[in-house]
Amino acid sequence: MKNLKWILTFSLVLSSFLSAIAGTKEANYDEAKVPKYKMIDPLVMADGTGVADKKGWRKRRAEIQKLFEQQVYGKTPEPKTVRFEVVEQGTSALDGKAVRRQVRAHFTDKPDGPGMDILIYLPAKATGPVPIFVGLNFNGNQTICEDPGIRISKGYIRNNQKYGVTNNRGMEKNRGRSSHLWAVDMILSRGYGLATMHCGEMEPDHSEGFSESVRALYPYSVADSWAAIGAWSWGLSRAVDYFETDKQIDAKRVIVIGHSRLGKTSLWAGACDERFAMVISNDSGCGGAALSKRAFGETVERINGNFPHWFCGNFKQYNSNEAALPLDQHMLLSMVAPRPLYVASAAEDLWADPHGEFLAARAASPVYQLLGTAGLPAMEMPQVDMPVHGRIGYHVRTGKHSVTEFDWKQYLNFADKNVK
Ligand code: GCU
Repeated sequence: MKNLKWILTFSLVLSSFLSAIAGTKEANYDEAKVPKYKMIDPLVMADGTGVADKKGWRKRRAEIQKLFEQQVYGKTPEPKTVRFEVVEQGTSALDGKAVRRQVRAHFTDKPDGPGMDILIYLPAKATGPVPIFVGLNFNGNQTICEDPGIRISKGYIRNNQKYGVTNNRGMEKNRGRSSHLWAVDMILSRGYGLATMHCGEMEPDHSEGFSESVRALYPYSVADSWAAIGAWSWGLSRAVDYFETDKQIDAKRVIVIGHSRLGKTSLWAGACDERFAMVISNDSGCGGAALSKRAFGETVERINGNFPHWFCGNFKQYNSNEAALPLDQHMLLSMVAPRPLYVASAAEDLWADPHGEFLAARAASPVYQLLGTAGLPAMEMPQVDMPVHGRIGYHVRTGKHSVTEFDWKQYLNFADKNVK
């Protein structure tokens, strides 16, 4: 048993090393050089049986979930109890437009042990429980807007140098720095709440982060245990646990959103936890909404080489070997069905393969249709800035890898139609 563990660890280290070397290969941005690949039918069971109805889909869905657990994200254990401490019940904030609530989720019974702060804004005018967007942030709750009342998140921050800070922990200095990514006013004025947590509080985003991760509180095996994306998704689900206890939040209308690596996370969270009523992937790319087998832009080998802690050990087997994957990301998207799903791309974000994101959304559509919804009403990739909204929404907007006002407007329109 011990030997097996060593062999596994050794082969993973070796494959990460090899992929780091291979990572110097040029990325492919040429549609003509996309390898021929086989699209796996989400509506055919592994044994070849076709899925004909809702009951059949539940079986196939379980099969697909298992594949992603074994090969990509690892399996998330049954959660131990998390204790919620309402640190701030409700303070008027943002010029009276919001009520701010802050909740500490304690991951252990040690009061000053590991945990995460959930920052919640509710529209001040709300008269009943509100639907709510929940998304992780990269650099601390205090970064999402200038509000001086937001508690500073203490988790590890990657790339803190950008802020002239060197100790990789949150501080006053980065308050409001990511406000361009969060349309807080727009969300509140449309009658939705917003909740956010810092991903670094569930797991620091670096390859040595395990000991500080929530994963360290559970049994672990290298090959198919959860990795950072699993730990971050776990945090999103724990926020829903809290929402279920809060009378001002409608826990049946929780919309999970994430950008980029946190978009991969919102998809995995939304796929596994069916309490999320709607799921949004903003520019999630490789390991998110984009088809891996296209190997366009970021590849499996690149992502595993640069971010070995995001996915489980088994995923490393597919470095430069995407054809061997017994799944692809359209199957992850299909797990959200029939709940509303939004996939968004940015035209200049070729690294994330916009076309591959569209094709994955389109390939998930038959599952939506089988379950009696419209799916994605587009066979061809829509023009830039021309959103298509069915039960699956998709757009590719002008510009770079980011979350913009345009993106948020679409999400709100789509949520009004599908959730509100
Ligand atoms: C890198 C990474 C992407 C990821 C992105 C982000 O570019 O290669 O997979 O989505 O970072 O999270 O910003």
